[in-house]
Amino acid sequence: MRSLRVIIGLVGLGLFAAESAAENESIRLGVDVSKSGAKIDRHIFGQFAEHLGRGIYEGVWVGPDSKIPNTRGIRNDVVEALRAIKVPNVRWPGGCFADEYHWRNGIGPRDQRPATLNPNWGGVIEPNTFGTHEFMDFVQQIGAEAYLSINVGSGTPAESADWLEYLTTAQPTALAKQRAANGHPEPYPIALLGIGNESWGCGGSMTPEEYVNHLKVYARYARNYNPTHPMRRVAVGPDGPDTGYTEAVMKAWKNKTWAWDIEGLSLHSYTVVKWPPAFKATGFGENEYAVMLKATLNMESLVSTHSAVMDKYDPAKKIALVVDEWGAWLAPTPGSPEGFLEQQNSQRDAVIAALNLNIFARHSDRVRVANIAQMVNVLQAMIFTREDKMLLTPTYHVFKMYLPFHDATFVPVELPAGTYKTGDIELPRLDAIAARDGAGKLWLAVTNLDPNRTATIDAEIAGTRVTMAKGLTLAAPKVDSVNTFEAPSTVTPKPYSARASGQRLPLKLPPASITVVELQ
Ligand code: AHR
Repeated sequence: MRSLRVIIGLVGLGLFAAESAAENESIRLGVDVSKSGAKIDRHIFGQFAEHLGRGIYEGVWVGPDSKIPNTRGIRNDVVEALRAIKVPNVRWPGGCFADEYHWRNGIGPRDQRPATLNPNWGGVIEPNTFGTHEFMDFVQQIGAEAYLSINVGSGTPAESADWLEYLTTAQPTALAKQRAANGHPEPYPIALLGIGNESWGCGGSMTPEEYVNHLKVYARYARNYNPTHPMRRVAVGPDGPDTGYTEAVMKAWKNKTWAWDIEGLSLHSYTVVKWPPAFKATGFGENEYAVMLKATLNMESLVSTHSAVMDKYDPAKKIALVVDEWGAWLAPTPGSPEGFLEQQNSQRDAVIAALNLNIFARHSDRVRVANIAQMVNVLQAMIFTREDKMLLTPTYHVFKMYLPFHDATFVPVELPAGTYKTGDIELPRLDAIAARDGAGKLWLAVTNLDPNRTATIDAEIAGTRVTMAKGLTLAAPKVDSVNTFEAPSTVTPKPYSARASGQRLPLKLPPASITVVELQ
């Protein structure tokens, strides 16, 4: 195909009025469609739902007798909202909870299930009314796949092996008959299996070598018996920058025998500046905005560091890096129950989400699964619920705007991002990714990190003719603007379109905004 170099600019709807001449200086953004990278796996848009606070109970499960509209106990409003963002997979039941979860407590008649404790998260009663069948019903209702975390910390290999047999075998075993008696004769599909959670911490405080010994046993015996639905096993990996687990697991994998295998290595990294988390979710200033963004961008070096170790043992990139806990961890909402990890979600969270997703997309050859923490009512949530009401957060809107990037092919972007400076913090002013979707459409996502200046971009698309840009932009009156039950649409995407007139037109990106456009 003849390569036609077209320079176009795109005009946007500037949401912030005052702009100086310097702010209007345009920045060249280059996209060369003749070059392409790896597939951006839709599984990087995964969710995480732990038995924690109001994440499951109230957030997802209200019970079949509730006045809140539900299907078999699962609230319809939340299902509808999650279907709309095409959630690829949901990680469950934890988190730290997973290493104390005993699956047999969560099957059979609900009124006969035992009440147990949830010592990690507020020490509350765990009623076990949301168990295996309810979770599988939930993922099927939202059109997602199941990512199960098995109990390595306080369970046994036999308990996990039984759970997998109960879920996945079609043979008439005692466990399969029990599954049928509990309402599901057909075997379930399990897409991902986490072998333990944070085994270096709440999952058993194991050294890397101790964990590897457990890993080999669980990876052998927690078998998937459903041949029509392959299952990827994910080993516990690093805690932040420490490469101890990465080295030990990858070295063991390289020297593995026929008797065990894995397909993924987990990485957990939150945007949290102080511990315990002290940064406010609302009512913060520019410094806290910038500090949080700086901490978020550290994900790039974490992914690069662990990918480099993985490359040593696995140059063919067979093992996926699975960032199955990420997101902003902020001070809890004042008055919320201790241990429930409830926090508001602002425009800053939207920017944080976009920056992380961009990093994963740029590393899509290695990062093939990721799960934001967490889905409903907990940490950097997509959705808040209050009794029969439901609210979509700015982070939800980013996930929806990024739908075109699910399974799209990465296209490199050239962008002299410039600098956003405040105090002694210096950050790139802009961040962008581009991709071609399955239907051949070209998409561009640009984040303007600078909370004070509109950015004017001239996009230069090499290798194709573009006449129009159409999509959505997410901006807000202030970086700490939030949606509330009283004002649910303060931060909501607005249509964005621009037409190439002649050769160049500026694309104006509001301060602290995310814009996703199709280049037509
Ligand atoms: O997401 C909250 C907790 O953070 C998870 O349970 C744990 O894995 C991590 O430390």
